[in-house]
Amino acid sequence: MRGHAPRCRRVTIVAAGLCAATALATALTWNSIFETILNSQVILTPRSRAYKEWVEPNVPLFFDVYLFNWTNADRFPEEIPDLVQLGPYRFRERRRHVNITFHPQNRSMSYQTQRSWYFDESSNGTLQDNITILNVIAASAIYRSRYWGFIRQKGLSMGLAMFGHGISVSRLAGELLFEGYEDPLLDLAKSLPSSTTGGAPPVDRFGLFYERNNSMDTDGLVEVTTGEMSGTIPGQILRWNNYDSLPYYSGECAKIKGSAGEFMSHNLTEDTLLTMFVPDLCRTVNLEYDKSGYIDGLPYHKYTMTDISFDNSTRSPVNSCFCNGDCSWGGLMNVSACRYGSPAFLSLPHFLHGDPELREKVRGLDPDPELHSFYFAVEPRLGVPLDVAGRFQFNVFIEPCSNIALYENVPKMMFPIFWVEQRVRVSSEMAAELRVVRAVCEWGGTVCACAALVFASVVVFVATCYSKKSQYTKTEEIVLEKPKDEAEIKLTSFEN
Ligand SMILES: *[C@@H]1O[C@H](CO)[C@@H](O)[C@H](O)[C@H]1NC(C)=O
Ligand SMILES: *[C@@H]1O[C@H](CO)[C@@H](O)[C@H](O)[C@H]1NC(C)=O
Ligand SMILES: *[C@@H]1O[C@H](CO)[C@@H](O)[C@H](O)[C@H]1NC(C)=O
Ligand SMILES: *[C@@H]1O[C@H](CO)[C@@H](O)[C@H](O)[C@H]1NC(C)=O
Ligand SMILES: *[C@@H]1O[C@H](CO)[C@@H](O)[C@H](O)[C@H]1NC(C)=O
Ligand SMILES: *[C@@H]1O[C@H](CO)[C@@H](O)[C@H](O)[C@H]1NC(C)=O
Ligand SMILES: *[C@@H]1O[C@H](CO)[C@@H](O)[C@H](O)[C@H]1NC(C)=O
Ligand SMILES: *[C@@H]1O[C@H](CO)[C@@H](O)[C@H](O)[C@H]1NC(C)=O
Repeated sequence: MRGHAPRCRRVTIVAAGLCAATALATALTWNSIFETILNSQVILTPRSRAYKEWVEPNVPLFFDVYLFNWTNADRFPEEIPDLVQLGPYRFRERRRHVNITFHPQNRSMSYQTQRSWYFDESSNGTLQDNITILNVIAASAIYRSRYWGFIRQKGLSMGLAMFGHGISVSRLAGELLFEGYEDPLLDLAKSLPSSTTGGAPPVDRFGLFYERNNSMDTDGLVEVTTGEMSGTIPGQILRWNNYDSLPYYSGECAKIKGSAGEFMSHNLTEDTLLTMFVPDLCRTVNLEYDKSGYIDGLPYHKYTMTDISFDNSTRSPVNSCFCNGDCSWGGLMNVSACRYGSPAFLSLPHFLHGDPELREKVRGLDPDPELHSFYFAVEPRLGVPLDVAGRFQFNVFIEPCSNIALYENVPKMMFPIFWVEQRVRVSSEMAAELRVVRAVCEWGGTVCACAALVFASVVVFVATCYSKKSQYTKTEEIVLEKPKDEAEIKLTSFEN
């Protein structure tokens, strides 16, 4: 019975010593422990937390469309086009990831994105607004005919006149966007060989977003990493529409790489390029560091699309493999190849960062980096996007064609049709959660080091009391205690 109290103390010393050692080890390896926990949370497996949030994101998404109303179309080409920006026509977007297939042997998964849009009453305008834009159907037909012979071009010229096609069309906003409108030329195109229409699937109506609502095909079939393999980040694109590389370009430009938009690398610095695959552009783009700041108490690094990253001109040699044909104007992306050969060119809204010559051909554009840039503001340590603005302007290329009456005198120019904005900001609940995660990341090591000190003090305290009261204990007990002293010496030396 006499040995009971000292045994209790011994147990206390051993336990406190072990706790101290564990806390110390945790403190020293905190960064990698944190990294492991973080990675296990963001991994894309059917049961992970990140996956559940990713499948059907419940952050409110808005899709804002601004249409350019062409107010002097009847005096074209004598007067340069006057464009009046209308909108935003705002749609609430519901996004789901569907047809998700896991490929365990490749540590990857493939999916499609289905998006649905609902008109939102906070729009500045209604779907009944009567708007005039360039006649895109005619522009496409004429562009596709640019290498035809005289006879066929004359035939097209007569066809356009017969069907009453003018240089512009006036339609309701709803028809121009999702609903579409009928056109006899579309019916004619159905009976033409697909080489004439660039292989485009036949459609009954024309609209800028016609058949995109609820469609699973808009963003294509995407295959991404799951992040299960150590050292990999989830959500990095591997293949797109079953392509290993883009068929439209060659060399470096054909590479399919970067984030699919949701997951970024950790530890972003000012020198990091944010590499991203953008299905609308059919290519990978690099965003460059712009500035840092705070949102909701969270630090961010802002990466934007610069004139270089969006370039299609000879000014940046790295991008020259994206120029198919003409490489004249900077700040434009020729997406013709992935839009069945239509004269579609994307730029930043209002030709921000674009060649000044683009803006000289139209009136009413006023680029402003605050309103028109494309950026990702990302929490740098965790790589979580906090504020994202995805913005593009859709333009149609026109040039004179002597055999087609409608286009005999038109200038060679890029005609702006509309621009879209998709803005997502971190919700305040999510921000609160991220602040906790960041605090754990930053202070976890310090807290563990303090815990180690506390436990070490317990060891010292109990051990000194014990040695004072136990002059009469047997030697074997002192021998047993010896290794604990060593641990204690190590810990106290760490304190200094
Ligand atoms: C990020 O930096 C921390 C140290 O600050 C390091 O422990 C961690 O492994 C790094 N993560 C990555 C993905 O490089
Ligand atoms: C667009 O411009 C046309 C021609 O100037 C005008 O009649 C029409 O009212 C404008 N539409 C809107 C919605 O302002
Ligand atoms: C709404 O649209 C009109 C033009 O139709 C524009 O003058 C006005 O600034 C817009 N308001 C907002 C809040 O965007
Ligand atoms: C679902 O995904 C597979 C590839 O994982 C693809 O082959 C198939 O076409 C997709 N299904 C639909 C309905 O698109
Ligand atoms: C998995 O990888 C192999 C070889 O890298 C490739 O041939 C195969 O198509 C991939 N499977 C899927 C489903 O991506
Ligand atoms: C998209 O489709 C849904 C039905 O699935 C419909 O309720 C909605 O109004 C459509 N949106 C647009 C913009 O037409
Ligand atoms: C739209 O406006 C044009 C003239 O700018 C007019 O010819 C056309 O009938 C109008 N359309 C509708 C549906 O009101
Ligand atoms: C755009 O790209 C297409 C196909 O890649 C090419 O045929 C066309 O000449 C290019 N157009 C211009 C204006 O650069």
